[in-house]
Amino acid sequence: MDADLLRADLAALYPQFGLRVAHAGTVLVAPTDEELLELAEVVAEPGGVVAPGREGELLGWPDVTGEPAARRFLEWAWRLREAPAPARWRAPFAVLDGGRALGLAVLAHELDDPAGTARTSSWLARGDQGRGLGRRVRLMLLEVAFAHLGMARAVTGAAEGNAASRRVSRRCGYRETQRVTGSDGVVEVHAAVTPAAWRRRRLPDVDVEGVEAFLAAISS
Ligand SMILES: CC(C)(COP(=O)(O)OP(=O)(O)OC[C@H]1O[C@@H](n2cnc3c(N)ncnc32)[C@H](O)[C@@H]1OP(=O)(O)O)[C@@H](O)C(=O)NCCC(=O)NCCS
Repeated sequence: MDADLLRADLAALYPQFGLRVAHAGTVLVAPTDEELLELAEVVAEPGGVVAPGREGELLGWPDVTGEPAARRFLEWAWRLREAPAPARWRAPFAVLDGGRALGLAVLAHELDDPAGTARTSSWLARGDQGRGLGRRVRLMLLEVAFAHLGMARAVTGAAEGNAASRRVSRRCGYRETQRVTGSDGVVEVHAAVTPAAWRRRRLPDVDVEGVEAFLAAISS
């Protein structure tokens, strides 16, 4: 079955599969197994996402490659699949560009997050990093969070040494909120952005579809 038809069928039960965000040739859609397998290949490749030896810059990123990395990625992505509810919802997106899946971005609200707070996280294949796509994807996620889901704040975290991720946050209007040192000694920098700060950096013409059913599911 075609991935878009599968998404349409899944959306009847899980409304996150109906979300579609598009801007300037970049499209974000909930990944079916077809896109997850494409992305698992990128994750499995040595240096596919992060330069060998710099895995510590990517919080929680496994230091394995090959099939163990692919399985770990797939199982993590499958665990994100659940019906959205006001207390907890996860909207994973495959980043599609030029007909390829080249990254994954997640917009979520976890159980211990304050009401109205959304989290974002993302990664791109290494060959597609550094050409502005990370910033575009982040602003597309914020478009959904602020303009469509009515969130009051978006938060993110990055290792202190992750210059690209922290730069993307700053350029999208985030301010640092706190630093936490993990048990592995990695300093995690937390940052937050408000709708007002985002609006000054908002991308024009972001097309968002399928939000009504998702919004109904997460609204109390
Ligand atoms: C983080 C990530 C999503 C950013 O996406 P990207 O497409 O590479 O980033 P962009 O090209 O949109 O912008 C990166 C910005 O960081 C800057 N940057 C990149 N590498 C940098 C470095 N080593 N030092 C300083 N600045 C750096 C770029 O110059 C750019 O700034 P500018 O917009 O002022 O020119 C991507 O690099 C990635 O997937 N990294 C690996 C996974 C990861 O770290 N994910 C985040 C986990 S918290």
